Amino acid sequence: MYKIAVIGGDGTGPEVVKEGLKVLEAASKKCNFTYETKDYDFGGDRYLRTGEILPETAADELRQYDAIFLGAIGHPDVKPGILEKGILLSLRFSLDQYINLRPVKLYPGVDTPLKGKGPEDIDYVVVRENTEGLYAGAGGVLKKGTPDEVAVQESINTRKGVERCIRYAFEYCRKRNKRKKLTLCGKTNVLTFAFDLWERAFYEVAKEYPDITTDYAHVDATTMWMVKNPEWFDVIVTDNMFGDIITDLGAMTQGGMGIAAGGNINPEGVSMFEPIGGSAPKYTGMNIINPLAAIGALQMLLDTIGEQKAADLVDKAIAYVTGNKLKSMSAGKMGYSTSEVGDMVAQFVADA
Ligand code: IPM
Ligand code: MN
Repeated sequence: MYKIAVIGGDGTGPEVVKEGLKVLEAASKKCNFTYETKDYDFGGDRYLRTGEILPETAADELRQYDAIFLGAIGHPDVKPGILEKGILLSLRFSLDQYINLRPVKLYPGVDTPLKGKGPEDIDYVVVRENTEGLYAGAGGVLKKGTPDEVAVQESINTRKGVERCIRYAFEYCRKRNKRKKLTLCGKTNVLTFAFDLWERAFYEVAKEYPDITTDYAHVDATTMWMVKNPEWFDVIVTDNMFGDIITDLGAMTQGGMGIAAGGNINPEGVSMFEPIGGSAPKYTGMNIINPLAAIGALQMLLDTIGEQKAADLVDKAIAYVTGNKLKSMSAGKMGYSTSEVGDMVAQFVADA
């Protein structure tokens, strides 16, 4: 019996999570596993009502689950940064979810802005470090608001943090078993302290993986190749900030935020899965947002808890729906409502 914590969150988060749970139910029946869910009301509404961003006990409580399924965090009436830092980043850090796994996969039938590229060209995974770098919050400000103001924001890179991320990427690349190529994305020509550490750790760990081809690209060049030659990539490993930036680019090449999913992974603990697109508050309650990103996150959740058969089935169901049903990935242009898309995916799983 799997225990799954559900955080619908803000805006359209609860609507897309509902469709993910529909698919989970179909998958559990089909593949004979059982689960229970519990809802947590973390998000902007709760904060505006109670003044509390995240209860002190939240992380300890969430640690008891097999997985966390998250909709979206971000509320138009709350100053940007408060909920993102106070909920999303806080959970990533306190649950030590040191990997942010972001597949960039073009499903059949989905439009990409990359001319001449198809599903066989756009299929790679970004392994983003998720607890260090510029996100660690190191730095400070002096003489704020004066002409002499000084702001320092430092990137923290620990040997341990970098190495465990790189090791995960090598393992993932081996298990994925596609092109067996791991690219380190960095900036060794300018960030000569941080990426020197990354580069040394990368090539040291690489010795343990002779079956994996290694490659290196500066982050600026990486963005060029992601557009021009995405088929060169299999798995990319990079730091927190670069990973944040390049995965939004990746998401656009796979059809946009309606379909991009990600997982905040603690390989030794509890992981949290989310559509990466945000809360899209203007579409709240309209039943027009695309739930496939949330369903893709659910697919990653199934894979991580060890339900491979169910995960493969959900992946096939998404491909069936994109390939045969949806007119577009964008909210309001799919040709179907949010709940109809969830129904079609769940039905495919049930009939498989
Ligand atoms: C993401 C988001 C978050 C990040 C924000 C909301 C804090 O952009 O998950 O990529 O920067 O990590
Ligand atoms: Mn981001």
